[in-house]
Amino acid sequence: MRIEFRHELIAQLASSALVSFSFEGSPASSGSVERLPAESLSLLRELQSAGELSGKAYECTLIHRPPGLAAAKLLVVGAGKKEKFNGAQRRRLAGTAVRYLRSRGVREMAWIVPSPGSESESIQTTVEGALLADYDADRYKTERNDARRIDRLDLALASPSGQEAEAARERGRIIAEAQNFTRHLVGEPSNQMTPQLLAQQAQEMAKRFGLDCQVLGPDEIRALKMAAFWAVAQGSEEPPRLIVVRYAHPDVPGTPVIGLVGKGITFDSGGISIKPSESMHEMKTDMAGGATMLGVMQAIAQLKPKLRVTAVVPATENMPSGKAYKPGDVITSMSGKTIEILNTDAEGRLVLADALTYAKQLGCTVLIDAATLTSAVTIALGNITTGVFGWSKEWVERVLAAAATAGEKMWALPVDEDYRDLYKSSIADLANTGGRYGAAIIAAMFVGEFVGDTPWVHLDIAGTRWSNEEKPYMGKGPTGHGVRTLVQLLTNIST
Ligand code: BES
Ligand code: MN
Ligand code: ZN
Repeated sequence: MRIEFRHELIAQLASSALVSFSFEGSPASSGSVERLPAESLSLLRELQSAGELSGKAYECTLIHRPPGLAAAKLLVVGAGKKEKFNGAQRRRLAGTAVRYLRSRGVREMAWIVPSPGSESESIQTTVEGALLADYDADRYKTERNDARRIDRLDLALASPSGQEAEAARERGRIIAEAQNFTRHLVGEPSNQMTPQLLAQQAQEMAKRFGLDCQVLGPDEIRALKMAAFWAVAQGSEEPPRLIVVRYAHPDVPGTPVIGLVGKGITFDSGGISIKPSESMHEMKTDMAGGATMLGVMQAIAQLKPKLRVTAVVPATENMPSGKAYKPGDVITSMSGKTIEILNTDAEGRLVLADALTYAKQLGCTVLIDAATLTSAVTIALGNITTGVFGWSKEWVERVLAAAATAGEKMWALPVDEDYRDLYKSSIADLANTGGRYGAAIIAAMFVGEFVGDTPWVHLDIAGTRWSNEEKPYMGKGPTGHGVRTLVQLLTNIST
């Protein structure tokens, strides 16, 4: 999608489709429709009186040969309640316009960037919404939506674009493309996204964007004494990979080093504690945490915040076999803590345990992990909201603030000493499960046992990694949820 700025008068703007939005209650006279010429506005008033234009969220009204406009079509997108309008909603409206128009064969659109309000924010969120909406996880279809893409997005400004506008467009593009990269990795089936192939994707991304990438194989993983990671990996014919991607701004001091650790289970069968077959195929997405971190790295390589960031992704399948780890096994993790395996399907916390220990060894001074860790978080928060956990109130708050800015829904769930007893083992330091009640908290706290005093935040994205329904502004399938929040967080703490 080419994205260009325009600043001619709206009436004179030549485009296949000019897009504006308006609010519920006053759909003919609010939002960016205000910038339309009088002839078009009077037509909108007629439509409003006829009950054909309501301004309800995502309502699309397409007008051919709109009066007083050089554009061939005018699309009015309902923006919902005015009081609730924000950047997140603008992102969705731009996305809605993209999906509506391309489904009708339109390939160019012009979006009215309303002023007043922050022009930069408006540009960035519009670009993000458009690019995210134009992505479909359909690369294995012989008839792809590719044939129906928006080729050109014009952003109609009130005056010629300056440097700020260009930076905002660039920022939006970088972030949306990174999120789409994550979506691509998550959507791939496990035969096309083995640990080796995931590592290869990481290496290609790192090379393209000038990051340092190191990939360790089975011998190195064993040599590092990552027995918890290895326990999960040993049952699979596919060799595991430990992916390390590093970013460092050239002129920042040694600390802080932000560690981004992402669960990279390329397929989770449950292992010997095998999952029911009904929705086992969904477990091709169990590397979404790792994919999130790779997407974040792609973005910051281009945005260049003043920081150091190290991403660690332990990638493996979790499979049953004659070599697989078994319930009852006891493992000595890289940290030295011993773990009794009660359920081989609680594998995420095991690979994270060693990956977090390793990230600390690499010098990370703050740890953030993202993982499709528990079905329990989906019961609690559904597919809409990511669960956020951590002992450091300060860092949990920072993540929540970044999520609010980035327009991703996240909610803090508690960690509390009183839950500790639930994952005690009678023969080892810890057990890898603690029953059904509070399972998302227990899993989070288990992971937190391996971070020591380092500030740490855990994101359980089991629910939010995937959307079963198509939205007006977003295709179904992998969401890339979490990428924007973490990019925003890293931007916020850039020194
Ligand atoms: N990868 C799953 C969690 C999951 C479930 C992610 C549904 C996405 C959608 C994880 O490895 C798992 O199996 N968790 C178990 C833990 C249990 C055995 C303690 C769970 O949550 O059921
Ligand atoms: Mn599992
Ligand atoms: Zn899993």
